[in-house]
Amino acid sequence: MATATEIAHQRCLSPTCGATFSVDEVRINCSSCGSLLDVVYDWDRARPPKSLQEFEAKWSRRYDPLCFSGVWRFHDLLPFAPPEKVVTVGEGQTLLQQADVVAKYAGLNAGSLFLQYEGMNPSGSFKDNGMSAAFTHAHMVGAKRAACASTGNTSASLAMYCAATQLMRAVIFIGAGKIAYGKLSQSLEYGALTVQIAGDFDDAMQRVREVSERLNIYLVNSVNPFRLEGQKTIMYRVLEALRWETPDWIIVPGGNLGNSSAFGKAFMELQELGLIDRIPRLAIINATGANTLYELVENRGLRFNAGRIDDDITTKYRQDLDAENKKASTIASAIEIIRPVNLSKCLRALDVCDGVVREVSDQLILDAKAKVGAGGIGCEPASAASVAGAKLLVEQGVIARSDRVVCILTGHQLKDPSATIAYHTTDQEKFNEVLGSRGVKRASFANRAVVVPNELEQIIKAISLYS
Ligand code: F0G
Repeated sequence: MATATEIAHQRCLSPTCGATFSVDEVRINCSSCGSLLDVVYDWDRARPPKSLQEFEAKWSRRYDPLCFSGVWRFHDLLPFAPPEKVVTVGEGQTLLQQADVVAKYAGLNAGSLFLQYEGMNPSGSFKDNGMSAAFTHAHMVGAKRAACASTGNTSASLAMYCAATQLMRAVIFIGAGKIAYGKLSQSLEYGALTVQIAGDFDDAMQRVREVSERLNIYLVNSVNPFRLEGQKTIMYRVLEALRWETPDWIIVPGGNLGNSSAFGKAFMELQELGLIDRIPRLAIINATGANTLYELVENRGLRFNAGRIDDDITTKYRQDLDAENKKASTIASAIEIIRPVNLSKCLRALDVCDGVVREVSDQLILDAKAKVGAGGIGCEPASAASVAGAKLLVEQGVIARSDRVVCILTGHQLKDPSATIAYHTTDQEKFNEVLGSRGVKRASFANRAVVVPNELEQIIKAISLYS
């Protein structure tokens, strides 16, 4: 039986470089050319399954943590770590729910829209999929401290893995005032060393790279290729829930572009292994106030181009950002990012999945979020960008009403109660303060509390009037 280091290695994404490194090495980019790294496998040695149905055998062995985990039951498709080094806290017990209320809102036929609810993860977001993989790698290489910059969910996830396993100390970098309270409360309670810097996510990301290199701290942001290995499993679970049938569309919010990159790699490998016969199309949805990918792909024509990405386009774009001193701004704080680290991998995902990119306003995001909630599964604002994107793409005729569409709900509703409360509030001042400043003009689907005096007859009258 081949060992993990014989089966897997890290490889530079650039086709003109292609340098390789052992999986025992800790690096966040290629030492020769600076490009992102991929984890690649020698599938002849790894012995992957012959069909995806083989994974069903794991369901009856849920007493084994590696079969219980929604990430590690697919270990054969991410075989970079020996089983005894795998770290799991039971991540990936998530749900694919048919959502007809939301389908109607998006203009899709009943039975066509599914919500992949990643808010059910132990720390309440999809990040646990990737964190269990990066954390496993950190453990493999003997790390004692792990760091990330975060808009709140990566940090909550890292802090949780550190606290639950006591294997490492978490050091998290956040932009002051930039993360939702639900997320901040998690990291503080889990005991992470919380470094709050005067700046936003993009600033924190740059700093954490510098600091982790200088202090030799293991970096778990999605620039870490092992993170993305774990996030591939979201797609395996979608296929599993659809009885291994490929949907027509996967729709995902885009921030630092780790998830979309991971999804593209998952489908690329499944096809290479002959485990699927068709790849779904991918739609990545930016918030209008953080629309780098949309601008680069849809307006400036940036393409993967077999790895020969036109640097002039990205350099010019970054110069424009600098010249205007532009900062990301959206109510969907999780995706308030304009310098996404996974851009090149995401372009590959768009290429592999014949993808499209769209931007949606905060108004559309919050209206979509209210509809998702009204359908019984709540989500945080960034997650609802996927549903807002579905609606837009149906309106544009890109998605057909009868297409089978899966929207990824990346984070739990309770992560960011402030946005929800502000949307449904009866207090116009509060609405203006939190949402009006973001260009949100109305709460189209608000469910406002009925304000009554503390008098029995008045309460009864109000209930009769409104029910
Ligand atoms: N949705 C949620 C709820 C997120 O927390 C994030 C990213 C995204 C979508 C975007 O995913 O970066 O893979 O494109 N949150 C990161 C964080 C940046 O720090 O928690 P992406």
